[in-house]
Amino acid sequence: MTHDAAPPQDLLDAAWRAHSNAYVPYSKFPVGAAVRSEGGQVHAGANIENASYGLGRCAEQSAIQAMASAGGRAVSEVVVVSSAVVPATPCGACRQVLYEFGPQARVWLVAENGESRVTSVSALLPDAFTLHRS
Ligand code: THU
Repeated sequence: MTHDAAPPQDLLDAAWRAHSNAYVPYSKFPVGAAVRSEGGQVHAGANIENASYGLGRCAEQSAIQAMASAGGRAVSEVVVVSSAVVPATPCGACRQVLYEFGPQARVWLVAENGESRVTSVSALLPDAFTLHRS
């Protein structure tokens, strides 16, 4: 990972807005994510938890669901913000979900104090699962 490139401001703003709408009564750990799809549209999502804990949804997955539901199919950039003291990395499941629509996407990870690092879906998830049928 490198620390040299600042996250795109529009994605950063959208991710923090979503972060403020996170529903996290159980973990108290809000996360916001924003993605840019083909055509430049920005879609965002937050983590949404549930009293049945396993039904909680991560922010990255909420953002991808919003994008795909609006017709987007290709993600070029992703910003993930959280209330962590260091930039939080996406969980394994989120990496696979990001890979589906953005195997080449750049990913910025941002901590509560604004510290950020940039990486990519391919670096976060080498050897991703793909359906190779005969
Ligand atoms: N969470 C995300 O939103 N994204 C991740 O990549 C990892 C974890 C959420 C899930 C849960 O609501 C909270 O953070 C604590 O795990």
